[in-house]
Amino acid sequence: MIVTTSDLFKIAYGKFAIGAYNINNAEQIMGLFRGCIMSKAPFIIQISKGARKYSDKRMMEAMIRAASEIFPEAVFAVHLDHGDEATCYDCIDSGFYSSVMIDASHDPFEENVAITKRVVDRAHAKGLSVEAEIGMLGGVEEDIQVDEKNACLTDPVEAVEFVKQSGCDSLAAAIGTSHGAYKFKGRQSLHFNVIEKIKELSPGLPIVMHGSSSVPKEEVLRINAAGGTLDPSACGVDENEYLPAAKLGVTKVNIDTDGRLVWTRVHREYFRDNPGQFDFRPPGIIFMDEYAKFIAAKNEKLGSAGTLDEIKETLKIK
Ligand code: G3H
Ligand code: 13P
Ligand code: ZN
Repeated sequence: MIVTTSDLFKIAYGKFAIGAYNINNAEQIMGLFRGCIMSKAPFIIQISKGARKYSDKRMMEAMIRAASEIFPEAVFAVHLDHGDEATCYDCIDSGFYSSVMIDASHDPFEENVAITKRVVDRAHAKGLSVEAEIGMLGGVEEDIQVDEKNACLTDPVEAVEFVKQSGCDSLAAAIGTSHGAYKFKGRQSLHFNVIEKIKELSPGLPIVMHGSSSVPKEEVLRINAAGGTLDPSACGVDENEYLPAAKLGVTKVNIDTDGRLVWTRVHREYFRDNPGQFDFRPPGIIFMDEYAKFIAAKNEKLGSAGTLDEIKETLKIK
């Protein structure tokens, strides 16, 4: 059942984080729903502009509606990831989405506030909530590349002022992560001091962590052993930091890259081991199963696993 993002946030805030998973195709959707049911977790299914274009936005919506029928016990919200103003309006008007993200973080503060405020007004009028971003994460977001030296941590004082002026419901803050498979060289921790300060200045504000993939070393090595050339020194977020961050208000944790690594590993290994094969369904079946297991394991780390009954009771869902 599709619920509002703000309902999920109200229940999770300060206790656990909701996994927000980017999806692009039917196999991912099947694996996502299965994994969340296996682990008894609520979730956010998030669609980027790229995902809306990959097949067709109507295809994405229809597949998600179908999954909701196939898995009636699933409780989830539908979210636009990294939207521009026009895409936000399209999603708000579609009546399908629970929430949108307006990402004007590359604009100056005043412009970011003005754009976000316009989206907030349109979204709130239709009962949707809005995630906005301040500070710049490194890595690649859609077609914009932010190099590491231009990436900067969110200033908590500025963040609170931004939320006050824009009226956004949740805040994507730059707390040391970046998008993609190449986040850090070597071990690096989240900037807990920034998270703590935002919580102190803005108690109750759900913080969103982008770039949360952990880029497991064994996954990278298996991909490379099957013909890939990923940089083996690439390093992601320590999964054991998800829950401590959640306790400080990180309520939504965005994961895309790790799921892509699962897809790449399964398909590279399958076609390496079955060079005469050209039916894509056998690896697709393996992928759905592996993706479901991957999602269930992430939900355990996020603390959302096992919370489905509480969520249903609180939201009065049969
Ligand atoms: O943060 C961006 C997400 O990983 C979505 O990626 O724009 O390639 O669909 P995408
Ligand atoms: P990763 O690239 O770390 O998976 O981050 C995804 C994300 O932030 C989507 O908005
Ligand atoms: Zn992101």
